[in-house]
Amino acid sequence: MNILMATAESLPFSKTGGLADVAYALSKELVREDNNVSIIVPYYKDLDPKKYKAKKLYSLSVKMNWRNIPFNVIHTYYDGIHYYFVDHEGYFKRNNGLYGYFDDGERYAFFSLAVIEFLKKISIKMDIVHVHDWQVGMIPCLLKTKYKDHPVLGKIKSVLTIHNPLFKGYFNASSLWDLYELDYSLYTEGKVRLDNQVSTLKAAIYFADKITTVSPTHKNELLTPEGSKGLNYDLQLRSGDFVGILNGMDYKEFNPLRDPFIYKNWKSNEYKNGKAANKEAFCKEFNLNPKKPLFSVVSRLTDQKGIDLILAMANFAVKSGGQFAVLGSGDAYAEEFFNNLYRQYPESVMVYIGYNNELAHKIYAASDFFIMPSAFEPCGLGQMIAQRYGALPIVRRTGGLYDSVIPYDMNKKNEDVADGFGFTNYSTLDAMTSVAQALMVYNGSKVIMNKLMKNALKVDHTWKKSCQEYIELYKSLI
Ligand code: GLC
Repeated sequence: MNILMATAESLPFSKTGGLADVAYALSKELVREDNNVSIIVPYYKDLDPKKYKAKKLYSLSVKMNWRNIPFNVIHTYYDGIHYYFVDHEGYFKRNNGLYGYFDDGERYAFFSLAVIEFLKKISIKMDIVHVHDWQVGMIPCLLKTKYKDHPVLGKIKSVLTIHNPLFKGYFNASSLWDLYELDYSLYTEGKVRLDNQVSTLKAAIYFADKITTVSPTHKNELLTPEGSKGLNYDLQLRSGDFVGILNGMDYKEFNPLRDPFIYKNWKSNEYKNGKAANKEAFCKEFNLNPKKPLFSVVSRLTDQKGIDLILAMANFAVKSGGQFAVLGSGDAYAEEFFNNLYRQYPESVMVYIGYNNELAHKIYAASDFFIMPSAFEPCGLGQMIAQRYGALPIVRRTGGLYDSVIPYDMNKKNEDVADGFGFTNYSTLDAMTSVAQALMVYNGSKVIMNKLMKNALKVDHTWKKSCQEYIELYKSLI
């Protein structure tokens, strides 16, 4: 099959979140399964064309109503994937990150229209255009309306994956015509309307041939009024074409045996020594005590990630004889909280405000427990990485966290299968209780602790199975 991923970010070139990991890792797996996979992304500022031997392929232009906007398509080939970059100086080469500009609506309208021009030009006949999140949500709509009788575009099937339902891509109804030359009736008939605005995500939900989200549990949540972030009515209408497929993770990037960033690599049968050596080195570097349990969090410190629970859990862990390492940035009060916690307990706390990939790897390898009490989590990657490095995740059981962690239950004595800890309600008390359970196991039973760790190290979160599900989904369309 010929598959084009249309996405606002993808590794190894651009990343703000998990979307970039998924676009790249899923594509790599699809290539391994003998598909021809291309990724089209904006050409942002920090991309280095020389390093990747990127070459200009086409000079095209987008007609955005009365404006004619020229752009280039740059091509490179990486890990078996064709990358096509939409190159437009004004829209994409900006100084303060990928998103968050006043004209994001227009920037990604331009990008979506550029993808359409690219599809008209390229000689490969794409079977599937797989769009990710709101930025490219108008592509399925354009294919099914303006281009439905086009000899090439009219035949392409589209798949939408929802990674984050919070971002709807709202814009003014008049922009339908101004940006896309699409008929206002799409709005009045409700096909692209959400909350009395145009929503590009809603447009994709209405027009894509299939819809996925990144875990089966999140799929179910999205169909309920409480868990859907306002999308339940629209998704209910499409429920026959809507599936949840759990993301995998990149086993090459995160591999205790070869990871260049951790203190000591380990073979799977030597995990006990390997973990101990990493914890010891980490504790030495940051003046902590290798004998005490080490909890950690690597996360944006924001509402979605359950920031108030994170703070309560950190505070409780440290006051109950544990240690806590944090790497992340976000809400100012949370950053301040951690700086204060460090000032109060320098012998038990390590704080790094910001992002640092190397340090993140070290934290995963050194920690006993990794907390992830998200308010909502379509899939989540941290908990899977933690398991791969033998750090037991402590999660709130929502979305992908529900699907990827089996919590230890003292009453059920399920230590033969459990690979983490969990709680259900969004409550500080329940979150702290989970930390207490983890401490009890750590202090009370080395046998159970080792069993849980072994189970975590054994879980299979490779892309293999999920990739098969995507392939089946694509096949059902062609
Ligand atoms: C979004 C979601 C996260 C998911 C990622 C990749 O960032 O918030 O849960 O893992 O997308 O699908």
